[in-house]
Amino acid sequence: MVLSTRLLFKQPSLLRGRSDVVTVTPWLAPIVWEDTFDPLLIDAMYKPMNLTIAATVFSVGKYIMFLKDFLETAEKHFMVDFRVHYHIFTDQPTEVPKVNLAVGRQISVHEVPKLNRWQDISASRMKIIHELIKQRISQEADYIYCLDVDTKFHFRWGAETLDRLVAQIHPWFYDMPRDQFTYERRPTSTAYIPNGDGDYYYIGALFGGMVEEVYKLVETCYKNIEVDSAKGIEAAWQEESHLNRYLLYNKPTKILSPEYLWHDQRGKTEVIKVIRLSQVLKNNAEVRENV
Ligand code: GAL
Ligand code: MN
Repeated sequence: MVLSTRLLFKQPSLLRGRSDVVTVTPWLAPIVWEDTFDPLLIDAMYKPMNLTIAATVFSVGKYIMFLKDFLETAEKHFMVDFRVHYHIFTDQPTEVPKVNLAVGRQISVHEVPKLNRWQDISASRMKIIHELIKQRISQEADYIYCLDVDTKFHFRWGAETLDRLVAQIHPWFYDMPRDQFTYERRPTSTAYIPNGDGDYYYIGALFGGMVEEVYKLVETCYKNIEVDSAKGIEAAWQEESHLNRYLLYNKPTKILSPEYLWHDQRGKTEVIKVIRLSQVLKNNAEVRENV
């Protein structure tokens, strides 16, 4: 679709806005909530750019059970009508479900070992994503989004999320005071954030942006995880803690509201007009290698 002047200047899009939530950060990055953007206008702007969007998802051990729903619902709601390249990391390549993909969308499966602790599986993602960006994604895609597999899409998750460096406010912390954020608090860790510091508490289950920006992020995080690990330190919430530290000093250029990754366990709250993607309820004892 060609972006016409008529479309740009149609009035309704200019009247959008929210007064019940904060929609911009102190460094002037937008915080994306329903009713702060016009999806038609966004699509008309981004579709002609002919973008390729990579999405990484890890489905290791029993987490393979979440992959089918993830992919099927992503095909309905995730970057619809864009070129999407899913990169699935798993220890069971033969168990990857066959899912009908729309035109322009494809899946690559990458075999990874199953580590013994879920904390290690989670943290190892930074290094693995770093390697794949270096090997392939830097030549193949414009944007990359890194998502948890134990989730399902329910509503549009579209091009309004595209920007240089993108992170999401954690659904359990968006309405909490900063002193309750679960940052890493030990100064000996490279993920340390002192009390009183910090902008938002970002979720580790979703981050992304332009490929070269995400490359810098995962590189810093995996190297810091290795520095800590050599000292016998594991940050409070593994790579999520390192992500939070990185984003404190490298501010995201766009922030997603918790609509973009909610949690089924949390009932819809007043400010959540739509749930776009949500973490499914799971029995940790059943799906994790260790508890
Ligand atoms: C929990 C979530 C964890 C971690 C933690 C941070 O709700 O399940 O993955 O993000 O919050 O405090
Ligand atoms: Mn998860």
